[in-house]
Amino acid sequence: MDVILESLRPLGTDSDCLLIGVFEGEENQNGLIKEICEGEIGEGLDLIISEGELTGKRGNFTLIHTLGKLTPTRLLFCGLGSRADIDSLSLRDSISSALRMACQKRSQLVSIAADSFTDEKVTLKRLLETIAACSQTGLYVYDRFKTAQSTRKVESIRVLLNQSNFKQVSQNWLDEGLAVGEAVNLARDLSNAPPNFMTPADLSNSARSVALESGLTFEVVEREEMENLGMGAIIGVAQGSVEAPKLIVLRYDGDPLNPNNSLALLGKGITFDSGGLNLKSGSGMRTMKGDMAGGAAVIGAMKAIAVTNPTLNVVGIIAAAENMPGGRAQRPGDVVTVMDGTTLEIDNTDAEGRLVLADAVCYAKWLGINRIVDVATLTGAVRTALGEHCIGVFGNDPSFTNKIIEAGFECGERMWELPTFQEYSGQFESDIADIKNSGGPAAGAITGAMIIGRFAGNASWVHLDIAAMSRVSSTAGDQVKGATGSGVRALVAFCQSLS
Ligand code: BES
Ligand code: MN
Ligand code: ZN
Repeated sequence: MDVILESLRPLGTDSDCLLIGVFEGEENQNGLIKEICEGEIGEGLDLIISEGELTGKRGNFTLIHTLGKLTPTRLLFCGLGSRADIDSLSLRDSISSALRMACQKRSQLVSIAADSFTDEKVTLKRLLETIAACSQTGLYVYDRFKTAQSTRKVESIRVLLNQSNFKQVSQNWLDEGLAVGEAVNLARDLSNAPPNFMTPADLSNSARSVALESGLTFEVVEREEMENLGMGAIIGVAQGSVEAPKLIVLRYDGDPLNPNNSLALLGKGITFDSGGLNLKSGSGMRTMKGDMAGGAAVIGAMKAIAVTNPTLNVVGIIAAAENMPGGRAQRPGDVVTVMDGTTLEIDNTDAEGRLVLADAVCYAKWLGINRIVDVATLTGAVRTALGEHCIGVFGNDPSFTNKIIEAGFECGERMWELPTFQEYSGQFESDIADIKNSGGPAAGAITGAMIIGRFAGNASWVHLDIAAMSRVSSTAGDQVKGATGSGVRALVAFCQSLS
């Protein structure tokens, strides 16, 4: 799909559908509405407005056909809510919903009256990035396994700007937005893939293709090397499966002369989580092909980082394994040794994410990296704590943690911090080993996080629990039913902010 910048008068522009932004309470001041009201369909539009149908209320969309009286075939008025409440998230939801509606009405050429979406709080840069990203994320469809593919496609989007705005904008903003949108969709594709098509080996092959296309360095730590490095935790998780574990490593060298200026992005890559011998119920297992969403977010982010080019070295590490209850599966009661020598008692084989991430954190430390972010569908408990509207954040260095929360807020990925008070660690003391892998039902998201954090030692570490955010059960706003690509935008924005 093309996204093209143009300085043209919106109502004079030929298109199948023209999107017009309308702020709440400003329906009568809106420049384009005024212009339309003065023309041939003016009376009709007046009526729609006086009936109270066309309002700027957030989420209110009004589609009208111009019946040959105006150059655009259709007009889609997009309610943006009040100016005071607009943010990255609401803007994205509006634009993605509008693009999807235009697409459903068989529009191939869509124009956006971009000036009508701007506000002091929405910079032109943010707007163009958002439009470009939403051209990907809003129109996302996962049809790899459908024998008949959907024929409705938006082919081209024209972003229309007035002269003065047009002079200020840059093609780079569109390119970066597109890169982020594509990265989110890549993460969605990986997580939506069926688990028999997304084994640790498949995930590793996908990461290799990304590296090849994007100029990243690619490497895999195979099981034998894991044994040599003493990664007993990830090996233990993979034991019950015929699929070998893979520690996938992607490198972006944005500041090669300063090896200290490095950041590790770790992703939980459980390609299927049956629970192991602590087998999940049928309903608990149903969505567990998506238990590699953290790993997918890291792969997606690395792809976008190669385009946005921050001055920073970023190492993406995806701890990939399949958690299965095979004959060689690890048992509750087993003790494994993590790469740093910590002994760990398996209290529950379903608490496997923290195990694979424990070795991944140690590996990042072993590479000499002292800033670590991990992204994981770690616990059901994070949904109980925070619901489905933000990512759970945990960390050991407040200024580092606040930076990622801030980056997330800016790009519309909301996060909320939960505590990691020392006292909680009593919950995962083991009678026979250094620690055990579960802290019981109380504060499950916190103890899960703290078990991973224990391996970070003096490195700055942040953990993002995306378990409640990694998939949605219905299409709305920027989200399309299925995997969300949660974490990608925040990771990319965070790397920009460290650059
Ligand atoms: N992958 C799950 C967490 C999860 C649950 C993600 C629901 C997405 C949706 C994780 O491996 C898990 O099973 N966690 C257990 C931990 C418990 C055994 C300590 C949980 O949340 O119940
Ligand atoms: Mn599990
Ligand atoms: Zn899991």
